[in-house]
Amino acid sequence: MANNRKNLTTAAGAPVGDNQNSITAGQRGPVLIQDFHLLEKLAHFNRERIPERVVHAKGAGAHGYFEVTNDEISKYTKADFLSEKGKRTDMFIRFSTVAGEVGSADTVRDPRGFSVKFYTEEGNYDLVGNNTPVFFIRDAIKFPDFIHTQKRNPKTGLKDPNMVWDFWSLSPESLHQITYLHGDRGIPATYRHMNGYGSHTFKWVNDEGDQFWVKYHFVSDQGVKGLDPELADKLAGENPDYHREDLHNAIEEGDYPSWTLYVQIIPFEDYKTYKWDLFDVTKTVSKKDYPRIEVGKMVLNRNPENHFAEVEQAAFAPGQFVPGIEASPDKMLQGRIFSYADAHRYRLGVNNHQIPVNRPKNEVQNYQRDGYMSVDGNGGSKPNYEPNSLNGPAEDLTKKTTPFDVEGQADSVSYNSDDHYTQAGDLYRLMSDDEKARLVKNFADHLRPVESEEIKLRQIEHFYKADPEWGSAIAEDLGLSVPESVK
Ligand code: HEM
Repeated sequence: MANNRKNLTTAAGAPVGDNQNSITAGQRGPVLIQDFHLLEKLAHFNRERIPERVVHAKGAGAHGYFEVTNDEISKYTKADFLSEKGKRTDMFIRFSTVAGEVGSADTVRDPRGFSVKFYTEEGNYDLVGNNTPVFFIRDAIKFPDFIHTQKRNPKTGLKDPNMVWDFWSLSPESLHQITYLHGDRGIPATYRHMNGYGSHTFKWVNDEGDQFWVKYHFVSDQGVKGLDPELADKLAGENPDYHREDLHNAIEEGDYPSWTLYVQIIPFEDYKTYKWDLFDVTKTVSKKDYPRIEVGKMVLNRNPENHFAEVEQAAFAPGQFVPGIEASPDKMLQGRIFSYADAHRYRLGVNNHQIPVNRPKNEVQNYQRDGYMSVDGNGGSKPNYEPNSLNGPAEDLTKKTTPFDVEGQADSVSYNSDDHYTQAGDLYRLMSDDEKARLVKNFADHLRPVESEEIKLRQIEHFYKADPEWGSAIAEDLGLSVPESVK
């Protein structure tokens, strides 16, 4: 070679002779099929896209670490990565919007995904939460319908407030979450200026086998800040990647964002008597009843080297627990335990755990073999069945999940409480007058284009039931009256 640049090669490593001109039959002749480099280049390009995530398609990611700051946490969980003060665990985080496509604007009103992967010495632990402590629905069976209303109208290909409000007004369990969404947290100033929540109740188990219910809160050390909706609209046009860029630049400049992780610990038996159903993800658990306990700090200090490899191919699964952390009977969580790993098999393939960003940092030892893109040696000559007499890896009974009593009949039933109004109303009443005014405006602006008056009135009824002042203010802004039957 004339200089010290590396030689361009085909995917098979053969040197490429010409990357500017395809091989033709003479100066003016057609292109020859023997130009393998040309065919390979065009064919590979055609296969660059993989399915985007069905939700949370647009996001940004970063590497970092988690450090335990409280020695007392091992009282509640035997999770190895939380065992002692000062213990550090590598992490990968992905923040996202929910409804938009992979190239959509960052500064829209939408919950933000807050996905966290801890590469612990006992395997990867994924906590796949949002920047809100609650969710729109409380049974996985409603999720596909809900998401259809957030995506595009099948006829027009347009976002459609008629679908959104038809669904929400017929699903009053959404009221609490949509109140967060239409308040100042609905458009965060940046990904750095928002909290993250595990949202569901999870189970922790300590060395003695004692069980606790736990709620996770990542509190932003940068503070929580919202974006003015008019500025957000402007930014969505000028720089659709505003939040991705902010995160990248902050880390590049050494201004590492951090979050303090707190947990609420709930004694096991309390699920029988607590005033709210602990497993209903549309409800919060009061900090007065169960104060937050500090666990540690999460710091993001390294940008991905390659967005596709690390962010697009990252796979977070809410069922991916480590010993000491287990599922609760939350119906949504139970559905998610199936849904994400299934999405990964479709989106990335059955061997998605072998992709470097998803690969555990401890050794993987199992009898899973073959499948598309098995690239880690496929277990070599080791046995591929169990039990075996070849000293292959075996289960460890001390790592079994803890038993949990169940009772009643197998049936499709709802949660016991249909009170969707108290907590949403409390959230409204907690707001300052300014915040309330912005909330009312945001709701009214979103509801205004809905064509059906029936849908608008149905939704106003929910606001009114949560707080008459709130329902009346939105009705007035929309030029409607709260129906007498509701008062
Ligand atoms: C992404 C399903 C509820 C937060 C996803 C994906 C699916 C999904 C299929 C795409 C996964 C992928 O392709 O990698 C569901 C179902 C739910 C549900 C069926 C209800 C039963 C929730 C809830 C939260 C949440 C309650 C938060 C509390 C997220 C986040 C992502 C995501 C943060 C993005 C993951 C990433 O960064 O890669 N969801 N979801 N989802 N979901 Fe859910």
